[in-house]
Amino acid sequence: MIGIVVGTNRVGSKSRLVAAQLARIYSKLEQKVSIIDLGLMPKEAWSGTAFKKTPQSILPTIRQTIDAQGLVFVFPEYNGSIPGPLKQYIDLLPRQEALEKKPVCLVGVTRGNFGTMRASLHLESILFYRRALIFPFSLYLPKIDELFDNKSFIEEANVQRKMMEQSKNFLEFMQRNHKECSC
Ligand SMILES: Cc1cc2nc3c(=O)[nH]c(=O)nc-3n(C[C@H](O)[C@H](O)[C@H](O)COP(=O)(O)O)c2cc1C
Repeated sequence: MIGIVVGTNRVGSKSRLVAAQLARIYSKLEQKVSIIDLGLMPKEAWSGTAFKKTPQSILPTIRQTIDAQGLVFVFPEYNGSIPGPLKQYIDLLPRQEALEKKPVCLVGVTRGNFGTMRASLHLESILFYRRALIFPFSLYLPKIDELFDNKSFIEEANVQRKMMEQSKNFLEFMQRNHKECSC
């Protein structure tokens, strides 16, 4: 099972639509998908007390994350970095079982031309710190409003091809690393 993380809680987020499109692609590739949408996290997740005692209400999200054999992070860049809720979600994950040796893949979404250059570097260094296995072929989706063109689906064939290619290659990466890490 693969987990697709919607890396923002913003209402109306384009990252959420990209995550839904990727979920359909992974399903076509016969992979079970579980969407981890930070927009659906209970409000206790954002409280400062969440670090003292993990709130019961966020345990299902943590379990979803642990159970995923690989994680795809679909995330925007906010003020030159990752969204605060994405950092908080990672901070709330238990130390080893959630991310360590877990294959992870990045899909960056922005309205501007430059893609998630800075946010991707920040996310990679956090994931590296947590000893995740970072798939080295990230997908950048700049000019996202034009790509969606007021629809809820990206129709451009070239982008669909890139999404499919990354998904196939990430599944292979997951399979290879699953064997190596289960020893
Ligand atoms: C608080 C905030 C900060 C943002 N900062 C940036 C930024 O630094 N660089 C950028 O390219 N886009 C920035 N954006 C615009 C996003 O690229 C845009 O919202 C896009 O649709 C992807 O994010 P979404 O998943 O929230 O829709 C920002 C948006 C918000 C709400």
